[in-house]
Amino acid sequence: MSTDSKNVDLVRTDLRGYAPASNLAFNEEIRKLIEQGEKVYHFAFGQSPFPLIEIATEALKENAQQNAYLPVAGLYELRDGISKFHVKYDGIDVDPDNIIVGPGSKELIFLLLQIFNGDVIVISPSWTTYKPQTKLAHHKAYVIETNIENDWKITPALVHQLMKNNTLKKNRLLIFNNPDNPTGTGYNQTELKALSEVFREYNILVLSDEIYGRLHYDQAHVSMTKVYPEGTVLCTGMSKWASAGGWRIGYHIYPPQLSPLMRAVLGAASHTYSCASAPVQFAVSKMLKDLDGCDRYMKHCSRIMGMVGRYSHRELTSVGVKAVEPTAGYYIFPDFGVVKYKLMQRGIETCQQMCDAIFAETCVALMAGGPAFLRPVGELTTRLCFVPFDGRSALEASLAIGLDVALPENFVKEYCTPVYDGIQILKQWVTKQLES
Ligand SMILES: Cc1ncc(COP(=O)(O)O)c(C=O)c1O
Repeated sequence: MSTDSKNVDLVRTDLRGYAPASNLAFNEEIRKLIEQGEKVYHFAFGQSPFPLIEIATEALKENAQQNAYLPVAGLYELRDGISKFHVKYDGIDVDPDNIIVGPGSKELIFLLLQIFNGDVIVISPSWTTYKPQTKLAHHKAYVIETNIENDWKITPALVHQLMKNNTLKKNRLLIFNNPDNPTGTGYNQTELKALSEVFREYNILVLSDEIYGRLHYDQAHVSMTKVYPEGTVLCTGMSKWASAGGWRIGYHIYPPQLSPLMRAVLGAASHTYSCASAPVQFAVSKMLKDLDGCDRYMKHCSRIMGMVGRYSHRELTSVGVKAVEPTAGYYIFPDFGVVKYKLMQRGIETCQQMCDAIFAETCVALMAGGPAFLRPVGELTTRLCFVPFDGRSALEASLAIGLDVALPENFVKEYCTPVYDGIQILKQWVTKQLES
C-alpha cells in the first residue's frame, strides 16, 4: 500500500477527495504554460488587470515598518474610512465598531460559516468557494436553482419554493452575491426589496457579498443593506475595485442586531489570524482618505470593464451562444448549448470536455461550468473572465480621454487586444462547429 493511501484516514471522512479551489489550480497550470512561452487567451481566472492606486503603493512603502499587531477588528482609522466610504456609495450609516477587517473577505466568510448555528442556503450558479466553505464548516447547503431566462437571479417565488419543500432549522443564512460571480448579474432596488420581504418572512439572514459592487458599469449598484439592514452582513473588500487581491484585505459589516454573531467571528479571528497585515491596513486607510481619487479610479476601471464585458457578450451572442449581458465585474457565464448536438457527434458531452477541446483547438482557456459552479455537468456553461489585457495602458488611455468623453468604438481592439482577439477566435470556433 502506498504511503498516500495508508494515511488517508488522517483526513476527515467527508473531506476525502475534497477538491482545491478549481479556479486557483487551473490558473497555476495556465501560468506555467504562459511562462514557457505558450500563447494562451487566459479567460479562466478573474482578477483586476489594473495597477494599484498610486497613493496606496506609496503609503505601503511608508508603512513597511509597521510591525506591531493591530486590533483584531482592524485599525480604527481604517474602519472609520470604510464607514465614510459606505456613506458615500451605499447611503448607509455604518458604525466603525460594526466592521471587521480581515485578510480577505473570503477568510471572514469562512469564520462566519464556522460559528453560524443553522442552515445555509446557496444559489446556483454560484462562486466556486461558497459551497466548499459551507462543507468545511459542517453545514448542509440547500441550493436555490436559477436559470438564464431569468438572468440567473433568485426571486421571492424561488425562496418560497425552497422553504415549502424543505424543513430548515430555525436559523437560516443565505449567501447572496450581488453583482454576481460568475454570471455578471446585478439586482435593482425593486428586486432587492421584494426579496427582503421573503427573507423577513422566513427569518433568513443574508451574507451579501458585494465585492463587485464598485465595479458596476453604470455606478448603479444597490446594496442589500439598503432594503434589509437588520438581517444583512455586508461582505466586501479591496480585492476587486481597488485591484488589491494579493494584498489580502477585506471586511464585513454587521448590523447592531447581529452583534452576537459579530462578537463570535471576532473571537474566532483572534484565535486564527489575529489581525490583517498592519502595513496594508495603514496603506488602505490612507488611500480611502482620498475619496475623490478613489472615485475617479473606479469610474475609469469600471467603464473599461463595461466596454470589454459588453463587447464579449455582443460578439458571442451574435453566433447563438446564450449569455446574460453583464452589469458589473469581470465575468460572463456563456452557455454554448447552440453547439451541443454538433459536439455530441464528436463525443464531447460535458462542459469540461468542451473546454478541453476549445483549449486544445484555439488556446482559449475557459473555466467549465459544472459542479464547481453548482451546475449540471451536461450543461455547456462556462465562466469567461474578460480580464487578460494590459490594464495599465488601458487605464492611462481612459484617463487621457477623460470621463466626460465616451471611450471610442475601437477601444477594446486597441487597448484590450488579447480579449478582443480571444473572443473573435472563440466566435470562429463556434461558427466552425455549426458549419461542420
Ligand atoms: C464573489 C467573490 N467573493 C469574494 C472573493 C474573495 O475576495 P477576497 O480577496 O476579499 O478574499 C472573490 C474573489 O475571487 C469573489 O469572486
